[in-house]
Parts: sequence; C-alpha cells; structure tokens
Amino acid sequence: MGRSVRLTAPVRYVTVDEALSSLAGTPTVTDENVARHYAGRLPPRTPLLVLPAGEPTKSLEYLHQVWSWLLSQGATRKSRVAALGGGVVGDLVGFAASTFMRGIPLVQVPSTLMAMVDSAHGGKTGINLPEGKNLAGTFSAPSEVLLAVGFLATLPQREFVSGTAEVWKYGAIGNPALLDRLIASPLGPRSPGLGKTVRECVRAKAACVRADPWETKGVRASLNFGHTIGHAIEALAGYGELLHGEAVAMGMVAESGLGERIGVTERGFTERLRSGLLRQGLPVAVPSGLRTESLIEQMARDKKRTGEGLAFSLVTRAGECKLVEGVEAGEVAASLDSR
Ligand SMILES: NC(=O)c1ccc[n+]([C@@H]2O[C@H](COP(=O)([O-])OP(=O)(O)OC[C@H]3O[C@@H](n4cnc5c(N)ncnc54)[C@H](O)[C@@H]3O)[C@@H](O)[C@H]2O)c1
Ligand SMILES: [Zn+2]
Repeated sequence: MGRSVRLTAPVRYVTVDEALSSLAGTPTVTDENVARHYAGRLPPRTPLLVLPAGEPTKSLEYLHQVWSWLLSQGATRKSRVAALGGGVVGDLVGFAASTFMRGIPLVQVPSTLMAMVDSAHGGKTGINLPEGKNLAGTFSAPSEVLLAVGFLATLPQREFVSGTAEVWKYGAIGNPALLDRLIASPLGPRSPGLGKTVRECVRAKAACVRADPWETKGVRASLNFGHTIGHAIEALAGYGELLHGEAVAMGMVAESGLGERIGVTERGFTERLRSGLLRQGLPVAVPSGLRTESLIEQMARDKKRTGEGLAFSLVTRAGECKLVEGVEAGEVAASLDSR
C-alpha cells in the first residue's frame, strides 16, 4: 500500500442546503432515517441509494450492494460517490469507494455529531464481520468533507448526546478550555458555541492524524482515551444495546479511575469528569451485569493490543494525556472492581 497517502481531507463548513446542492448528479448513498428528512431536498435526478439504518448495514452484503448499485448507475473510474449520513453510512461507503474500480473519490457529508467530529475524518473505512466489529476495511481519505451542523437539528437526542462523548474526549485529552466549557454547560444541538466546538474537534483529530497517520507513533492512539474499556463494554453489552458514545463515556470514567489508581492521572480528575458527563446526560457507570473478568478478556482480544499487558491513552491532567503501555490486567481488574 502507498503509505505516503494523506489521510486528512479538506473540510468545507457549509449549510445543509449548500451541502445537498453540492451533490447534484453525484451518486449518493444514505440511510432511511436521513432520507426521510433530506432526500426531498436533494437536487432533482441525484441518484440516491437508501439503505436500512443501523450498525448491521456495515456488512459485506451491503458493501456488495453499494458496488452493484454504482455499476448500475454507470459509475466509472472517473465517477465520485457521496456518503450522506452517520458513521455507518460513512464507513461502508468509504470502503466501497476506496475499492470500487480500485478507488474513486468520496464526498463525506456527515449528518450525526459522531460523524462530524470523528468518523468522517481520518480515513478509516470498514465493515463488520460476523466475528467482530470493523474487521475489514481500508485506510482511505475522502476527497472532501462537507460539514453542516444544521443536520443535527433532526438527530434524535440520544444520538446527539452519544456523539458528545467524543467531544468530551477531545477536551479531556488535549483542550482544557473546551473541557472547562463543557463542564460549565453541557453541549446541546442548539448551543450557541456548537459550530465552534465542532471545528475545534475536527482540527484536533486532523492534527493527530497528520502527526501519526498509521497509528504507529502513539499520537493517533491518544484518541483512544475511553475506548480500550469502552470497546469491551460495547461488545459485551451486545452491539446495539449501548450506543458507541455511551460506552465511551463509561470507558473514560473507568480509565480515568485506573489512571488515578496507578498514579498517572491527577487526583480528583475522575470525579470532575464523571459529574460533567452525568450532567451531559451520558451514562457513566459500567453496567453491573458485566463481569470484570469478561471485560479484561475482551480487552485482551482487542486488535489494538500491543505485546504484554494492556495499552491505554490516559489523561495526566485536564487537557493532557499520554500513552501507557504494559498495564497489568490485575491493576485494571482492581480498578474495575472498585466501581
Ligand atoms: N471511521 C472511523 O474513524 C470511525 C470513528 C468513530 C465511529 N465510527 C463508526 O461509526 C458508526 C457509528 O456512527 P454514528 O454514531 O454516526 O451512527 P449511525 O450512522 O448509525 O447514525 C445514528 C442514527 O442516527 C440516524 N441519523 C443520522 N443522521 C441523522 C439526522 N441528521 N437526522 C435524523 N437521524 C439521523 C441514523 O439513521 C441512525 O439511526 C459505528 O459503526 C462506528 O464503528 C467510525
Ligand atoms: Zn469513538
């Protein structure tokens, strides 16, 4: 693979109508919920493929469907395709675009907070396999991201709140001023500072991706704060039970507690984070039905594991973090048991 490829893409901040009118004539893939709100506002005769909403759509079956549909639309190596939706549509169509006729340009039009601040950027595409999440995919950046926060007006509240977990993450790992703002007043779809906050997150992710595109230098891995334990919670709760951001919120609190326990995280940080996330409406306690042993086993299976012990991106103090490798499972277990 050509590893000199850039994984960051230009981001254009636009209105919903500008985003939709930019798609005139571009084969566009979306899901049924997004289509219900926005299909009627696309320019006439824009080819549109509407897929079922939800995580199961990130599958080989729908990947094949996207490829076949592109062929049926007469797409060639010179065509481009658009992904209009959340991370599910973005990851699936990103994979399809990066492999269709060996790769055609992709326009990402994120419509969830999660996609706007995270999944539409950084060039990771993929689908789930029956064996696990995101097990097949590519590194391939979109040609452009059209970002319109106006799409959030129709996003269900639970999905919006889930997306805020990633915003809290950017504050906790690298932006103390953002974290202070969130603690002072949780983010809402009509918050006056929403546009500014989204831009800060986009810049933060782009900076990590540019510094460490292939996640080999420990910089991009800082974005995994809350995700080592969060992914284990998400998997064991059963995909679809908890939204990704909800599991990440629990994971951030648990990893921060672990950080305090092993002397990496400043004392008192976990409590500030926990009470702030609660006010944001996010769940913060690891579900009591999930056994510590099973969580540890699940973490050990995670593909991001490095050598012996477990790796965590831990906050040192508000707005700063570091990668800590080789954390003993016993420490993690003791920390989880103290919940
Ligand atoms: N590639 C990456 O770097 C990366 C990063 C984070 C997450 N992800 C992936 O992203 C996926 C989750 O993405 P998500 O949280 O956006 O979920 P999603 O794509 O499932 O969207 C959430 C729900 O909101 C609906 N929806 C989307 N936009 C809407 C709008 N504007 N109005 C009304 N309804 C709307 C969707 O139909 C869906 O029901 C996961 O598969 C995850 O693995 C990828
Ligand atoms: Zn995440």
